[in-house]
Amino acid sequence: MKLFSLRGFGVSYRDRAGLHPALQGIDLDIEAGRHLALLGESGSGKSTLAAALAGLLPANAVSTGRLTRPGFAFEPRPGRDIGMVFQDPGGSLDPLIRVGDQIAEARRACRGGRRGDALALARDWLQRVALPELHSASRKYPHQFSGGQKQRIALAAALVSEPSVLIADEPTSALDSITQHAIVELLRTLMGRSIPADRAMGSIGGNRQDAKHLQGFPSRPRDEPRRETLLGGGLTLVFVTHDIALASQLADDVAVLYQGRLVEAGPAERLFRAPAHPYLKALLATRQELGNQAFGGSRSRRFAEIDSRDFSVRIPQAAGGAGHG
Ligand SMILES: Nc1ncnc2c1ncn2[C@@H]1O[C@H](COP(=O)(O)OP(=O)(O)O)[C@@H](O)[C@H]1O
Ligand SMILES: [Mg+2]
Repeated sequence: MKLFSLRGFGVSYRDRAGLHPALQGIDLDIEAGRHLALLGESGSGKSTLAAALAGLLPANAVSTGRLTRPGFAFEPRPGRDIGMVFQDPGGSLDPLIRVGDQIAEARRACRGGRRGDALALARDWLQRVALPELHSASRKYPHQFSGGQKQRIALAAALVSEPSVLIADEPTSALDSITQHAIVELLRTLMGRSIPADRAMGSIGGNRQDAKHLQGFPSRPRDEPRRETLLGGGLTLVFVTHDIALASQLADDVAVLYQGRLVEAGPAERLFRAPAHPYLKALLATRQELGNQAFGGSRSRRFAEIDSRDFSVRIPQAAGGAGHG
């Protein structure tokens, strides 16, 4: 079942000088229950597309073409039916409210119910994102947590209202690489999936030692039966990133944006095996290149270099390979 369907979809931003296109001619279907990575360099329109899907485009945005949500029986409400997490977790948390109360209020605003029940649910969610009440997590304020912990809280706040889609806009980009792994692992656990061995970070970087930093994080023991997925196994994920390694860990499908256009889309396995667009090819080459190096800050530097390279001259012949999922 298609949850979202875009045909000839575009978004421009209006300012005094006129309209500036951010997305053009997007044809894309997002299937329910699938995990889509939205990949592209900085400024390619990823956040614009994420906001459009969530129904959260800013007031100065003008959209054209068609964006329908056939998988919803009713007009989905952002926050309730479509959960969002952003790059800066601090930005979505109120510094003056205890995190337990914030999550509880997020629940009540969307689903109603009694305050006490919502608070119990909030504590339960903090536990699921590995911030147990043992440490009085629910009674603390956002500044008492690290960046990675705040992102866990933001995830709890986004998921507590049981949305059917989670849109995560570069949720790990502001975090160090070890914390990134932990958040990606958490996302997979929350969705009832574990990282396939062949796609685990260990296979692309020398991060063996990272694993011990993840100890204490409640990943599923191998012989334990898979826990029932929180959202009936059907949670759809749209994961925005410019990091191909993260995309490969989370995605069933990949859509690649380049300068506001969808240049490639399809199953992750196929795109990563046989990329058509030069931008995706360059990203994949970097991934292999870095596979032989110690895992560290060099990776983000390398991505920044790729972002600043200009592939546009090669778009005309490559764009022919673009399809929609
Ligand atoms: N609120 C806005 N007002 C005006 N221009 C915007 C706004 N948001 C994004 N843009 C512009 O739209 C383009 C795409 O931006 P964005 O969707 O944020 O890309 P990405 O998330 O891939 O970095 C950029 O040129 C950006 O400057
Ligand atoms: Mg963005």
